[in-house]
Amino acid sequence: MSYPYQITSLEAYRAEWRRSIDDPEGFWSDVAGHFTWRRRWDKVLSWNFTDPDVRWFEGARLNITENCLDRHLEERGDQPAILWEPNDPQDAPRVLTYRQLHFKVCQFAHVLHNNGVRKGDRVCIYMGMIPELAVAVLACARVGAIHSVIFGGFSAQSIADRLQDAHAEYVITCDGAFRGAKDIPLKSVIDDALVSCPFVKRTIVFTRTRTPVSMIKGRDVWWEDEIHKVESAGNPPFPAVEMDAEDPLFILYTSGSTGKPKGVVHSSAGYMVYTNYTFVNVFQYRPGEVHFCTADIGWITGHSYIVYGPLGAGATSLMFEGVPTWPDAGRFWDIVDKHRVNILYTAPTAIRSLMAYGLGPLQGRSLETLRVIGTVGEPINEEAWHWYDEHVGRRRCPIVDTWWQTETGGVMISNMAGVTPSKPSHATLPMPGVEPLLVDEAGREVVGNGVSGNLCIRSPWPSVIRTTYGDHERCRTNYFSTYPGLYFTGDGALRDENGYYRITGRVDDVLNVSGHRIGTAEVENAINMHAGVVESAVVGYPHDIKGQGIYAYVIMGELHGDEELTRRDIALTVSRVIGPIAKPDRIQFVTGLPKTRSGKIMRRILRKIAEGETQNLGDTTTLLDPGVVQDISKGRINR
Ligand code: PRX
Repeated sequence: MSYPYQITSLEAYRAEWRRSIDDPEGFWSDVAGHFTWRRRWDKVLSWNFTDPDVRWFEGARLNITENCLDRHLEERGDQPAILWEPNDPQDAPRVLTYRQLHFKVCQFAHVLHNNGVRKGDRVCIYMGMIPELAVAVLACARVGAIHSVIFGGFSAQSIADRLQDAHAEYVITCDGAFRGAKDIPLKSVIDDALVSCPFVKRTIVFTRTRTPVSMIKGRDVWWEDEIHKVESAGNPPFPAVEMDAEDPLFILYTSGSTGKPKGVVHSSAGYMVYTNYTFVNVFQYRPGEVHFCTADIGWITGHSYIVYGPLGAGATSLMFEGVPTWPDAGRFWDIVDKHRVNILYTAPTAIRSLMAYGLGPLQGRSLETLRVIGTVGEPINEEAWHWYDEHVGRRRCPIVDTWWQTETGGVMISNMAGVTPSKPSHATLPMPGVEPLLVDEAGREVVGNGVSGNLCIRSPWPSVIRTTYGDHERCRTNYFSTYPGLYFTGDGALRDENGYYRITGRVDDVLNVSGHRIGTAEVENAINMHAGVVESAVVGYPHDIKGQGIYAYVIMGELHGDEELTRRDIALTVSRVIGPIAKPDRIQFVTGLPKTRSGKIMRRILRKIAEGETQNLGDTTTLLDPGVVQDISKGRINR
């Protein structure tokens, strides 16, 4: 057995799960005993879900980077920690061994320190998928600063919102990023964002694309110059800053059903233990294997299963800068063969988009090194599951369908590769430490098997969200107040006759587009910023590749000129305000929206129309103007 806490049989899983629920403190204290601590905890867990107030390993002192880097140096210092595949396959890949990564993280921790970053400061990171992104993340953790990574596809406005919310005074970015045939001018986007963030003291810029940038005197410095200063000082080691178990490790913004994205806060110790534990168990990682998670570090999947989980376990983590379809749709398969990848972890949307290219791109690719394949981010339909199984896993690799969320920090419900059974489109069984339950609308628990309901979790696991940054009340109302005493996920689920869970999707006003979470309210606000728009309503509809597409009903003040042009203008507005990922796929101009007498938009009806249902729209008698439904339904857009 490779890790003392690795579960290797179904019976062991059942026993461990049972114990984790009956005696969470004993269970997690045994797991945590295998990590490096400066000081052990006084109490494993104290909690209530009312405030909420959750504390794991209280009194313990640590730095997560000592677990991810220092403790591996002796045994596997020369083993690759990060393998990096560049956007352009003609360019050379890079390898950072644990020793080299440790060295670079210490160097950059000095850079941060020299530039004024201290424990507890918020540092925004807006970079492409290059090893320096992982270095920046880990260096923040090493100095005890709280990182807030922002996905490279977000707009200047979205960045400004996040910088202001966290009052982040430091920014780390690149001149630009390569993504497929595109070249994204990251620094220029940051410059636009910083116009409304005068409190930002320092921007550190790494050179990647050589895109021209403007450097502002007194605020902007080059990464390379700053590293040079550390080198001139003889590259002293950087002792990790000692953190409290519950000190925040990072903030990651994610969309909810109302308002602006909220900053989900994760703590140090619990997150460290849980991401490592789930990494080792879900993927059944074996030392020496190459783990390829295709997510961007700008999302939680990248945080937990490119950086912290794998590095905590001393694994080799592959980072890919590009996109699955460039220069052609065989890119993933080339990477698997080239780097001898053993574990491939990707999203259903990527699988579906590759399916659309047929089997050609798979021809001549051996994929023989693959042992486990996984999915995350959205429900995987059976067709995609079978395609993945047959053509990628070649029927010999277990598929892990991992359900979890930004707020949960790590995988919550999933089979464990080859250890617990899999079932197409089912996340199956909870991880040890996780007790899911289904409740009906009234909050009553739905018991037994072969049932459905809203998915909740009964008690805390180590990496449960601690707060939403700067607004604890928002955390409480969003997750802990719908069903008092429970964590509410926002997802609906079925529990089949074997007790396996199948996640059916969000039951709130959150869309899941290509595995990216987007709030309908957020998109509506962005659309409404367009000068000609009076009002809008946004819903999701089934989309073959993206899982869900964005359908917008828009009332214009006056619609003159070309409708198609206006549509493009609106899409561009959304792109500017949020980012290209939130652009509506379909925009229908309407003269009214179905509203109740109290003025509430009946989204249920709009959702049905967007889905193509024109007959059974349900009860429309409570509407202020039932006639509006007919008009909308007639004008439905289906391309
Ligand atoms: O609806 C669920 C869906 O993604 C949501 C969480 O999104 P996010 O916080 O961006 O994190 C995504 C990566 C962990 C969930 O509420 N979701 C995630 N994984 C699955 C899933 N839906 C079905 N099956 C999954 N395996």
